[in-house]
Amino acid sequence: KAELGLKDFLHINDFDKETLLKILDRAKEVKAIIKSGERTYLPFKGKTMAMIFAKPSMRTRVSFETGFHLLGGHALYLGSDDIQMGKREETRDVARVLSRYNDIIMARVFAHQDILDLAKYATVPVINGLTDFNHPCQIMADALTIIEHIGQLEGTKVVYVGDGNNIVHSWLLLASVIPFHFVCACPRGFEPDARTTKKAIKAGVSKIEIVNDVKEAVKGADVVYSDVWASMGQKDEAEYRRTAFQGFQVDEELMRIAGPKAYFMHCLPAERGVEVTDGVMEAPNSIVFPQAENRMHAQNAIMLHALGL
Ligand code: CP
Ligand code: NVA
Repeated sequence: KAELGLKDFLHINDFDKETLLKILDRAKEVKAIIKSGERTYLPFKGKTMAMIFAKPSMRTRVSFETGFHLLGGHALYLGSDDIQMGKREETRDVARVLSRYNDIIMARVFAHQDILDLAKYATVPVINGLTDFNHPCQIMADALTIIEHIGQLEGTKVVYVGDGNNIVHSWLLLASVIPFHFVCACPRGFEPDARTTKKAIKAGVSKIEIVNDVKEAVKGADVVYSDVWASMGQKDEAEYRRTAFQGFQVDEELMRIAGPKAYFMHCLPAERGVEVTDGVMEAPNSIVFPQAENRMHAQNAIMLHALGL
């Protein structure tokens, strides 16, 4: 793959700061073209993308499919009943067959090992559309959104409130490449993966804190960020988690403590009234919808980079 100028997009920290910023610049350029209504920039013309979904999705499916189409390509949606990767057929076989039909593969899976196996055996770029471990495309879209609203990511204070999940791991991996202040405020026992945290801190690029005092954590934040308390694959724990996460709801009072410059972000889907109140979602400083829109623009740039275009 590498010899052909093709790259997988599996983890944020597979790339250096310069490359990530270049991808984000490209995202802005291509976003401007798409928003202008111009439909003559078609770098994916004649190309096809296979999209494997082992889990549900709105944003990831629609933004990848639409983005690839708007830039001239054709995307195929393969739901959980279609390929049944690892069940109907081994991942390494799926990877090699799809590579013979398609120019690029995007996959949303449970086990992180599945995306690693896909990438290992595919002869075309593989893009990670979320695993139980991370969600790099989301965090690239988030970075783009922060740059658009604040001017830059470097030097900002991003406070994630909630479960130390796949979203947090991608924030940690971003913080190991681009310098900013990242705080994860979570209940005891719901911290992000210890090895990932240690590695990110050891990288020495960003100030990184994992704390349990949410009110103290949000003070002076540029961004307060939230996600569901029970991720896909954990929905049977939803009730128990609601009890465990008491005090970690992002509400109007927490946003007031954060201060007047704090934006609210959420990767969505949100459970209003659970991890975030309706009022915070609808407040003028909530940028969750521009953030969702940027999934498409960030991913278009990621795919251009992956394909060496
Ligand atoms: N944020 C996100 O990945 O949304 P979907 O699960 O709807 O794709
Ligand atoms: N942490 C959530 C993110 C959804 C986009 C999940 O994995 O379900």
